[in-house]
Amino acid sequence: MSKEAEIILDGKSYKFPVIEGSEGEMAIDIAKLRDLTGYVTLDTGYKNTGATKSAITFLDGEKGILRYRGYPIEQLASKASFLEVSYLLIYGELPTTSQLEIFKDRIMKHTNLHEDIKKIFDGFPSSAHPMGVLSSAVSSLTAYYPGSIDQNANDEEVDLTIVRLMAKLPTIAAWSYRNSKGQPLMYPKPKLGYCENFLYMMFGHPNEDFTLDPVVVEALNTLFILHADHEQNCSTSTVRIVGSAHASLYSSIAAGINALWGPLHGGANQEVIEMLEEIQASGISTKDYIAKVKTKEVRLMGFGHRVYKNFDPRANIIKKACDDILNKLGVNDPALAIAKELEQAALSDPYFVERKLYPNVDFYSGIIYKALGLRSDLFTVMFAIGRLPGWIAQWKELRDAKEPIGRPRQIYTGYTERDYVSIEKRK
Ligand code: ACO
Repeated sequence: MSKEAEIILDGKSYKFPVIEGSEGEMAIDIAKLRDLTGYVTLDTGYKNTGATKSAITFLDGEKGILRYRGYPIEQLASKASFLEVSYLLIYGELPTTSQLEIFKDRIMKHTNLHEDIKKIFDGFPSSAHPMGVLSSAVSSLTAYYPGSIDQNANDEEVDLTIVRLMAKLPTIAAWSYRNSKGQPLMYPKPKLGYCENFLYMMFGHPNEDFTLDPVVVEALNTLFILHADHEQNCSTSTVRIVGSAHASLYSSIAAGINALWGPLHGGANQEVIEMLEEIQASGISTKDYIAKVKTKEVRLMGFGHRVYKNFDPRANIIKKACDDILNKLGVNDPALAIAKELEQAALSDPYFVERKLYPNVDFYSGIIYKALGLRSDLFTVMFAIGRLPGWIAQWKELRDAKEPIGRPRQIYTGYTERDYVSIEKRK
């Protein structure tokens, strides 16, 4: 017999269906709640609210499980390429050799940007944060590809928009970085792989040979995969809610980039490295820093997660990769030792244990990005490139399911009706 939930309001009983996800996740379907009872639910921060049904990513925060389309993140991170994972997220299945080849060729063919987009970079001061530049440039793609706004676009046209975005985001990121440094822009090399081409555009020079370090390529590939999707987090929910208004893919992703930039979300990776460098520069002991965290003078950035209450599987992989990559690159970064000390101190401290605070994906990723030669304000840009296929998959799922516009309710707590007071009578 299917389960039901009973809600008794003002002495009257109402029954609501209980639905179960494929991994046994249970939910009370309250779609008819307001119609039947006049009540709404209140859940600030959506801590208990399922906003959609989704078949893309499964996450169990208590058990530290993360799977894309059923495949464990540990397997994907160690065995797959980022484009393979992107295909999996967007189209639902791992690609065959020829599907992957076609996907890669299509993407690499579209990596160039319209020449006029360079003027957008010129319009920003060199001190501009690259996340602001990234979201603006992505927004501008609606102007270069107006067909992307068309709500009646067929699946083929939508797919072209998807391919263009996957292709152009790394070029936008690399060109905005080069522009901020006054360095010549490097045109994409479609023959290279996705990660390889990005590194070439970031660090190559027109008058020098460029040698790719396989350790760096592999590190980037792993980091992109680990960031590729994370179900209904803040930026993904933003993408979905903007997309639900039938905004274009480019506009929805630009909104997601802005949400990701926030220091409580993807912006935390920049904050972590700056925190570690500040600890190093000030000479404060990790014990004293933890004491400041506990009095809430500062937050331990890169710690804590809304859903992971045991460990973040991505952080476990990244921590191991961090040691390995720094060793292989011969980098000795004191930030790593400080991070490990902080982690150890926090994990044995009741403040963190009671609140179930563990290192999240951002705690060690910045140390790797730094070792790869990236400036700290670019760390969240790396996150955005990695997260792009997930955002696209979620936007596509919403579109295919013809989900209604996202429009939460509220509990109004302001004044009840009162009469307008003319300005000379106001106190
Ligand atoms: N340092 C110190 N205390 C913390 C931290 C932290 N990093 N995170 C949570 N807490 C404390 C809170 O102060 C609160 O304590 P209280 O019960 O005494 O008031 C308790 O733990 C619960 O924290 P909330 O903020 O209510 O948890 P929430 O789920 O709303 O927030 C968040 C999750 C935003 C990730 C939070 O843990 C945080 O700010 N972490 C630091 C920023 C960060 O690393 N963000 C990246 C997250 S991963 C990602 O988005 C890619």
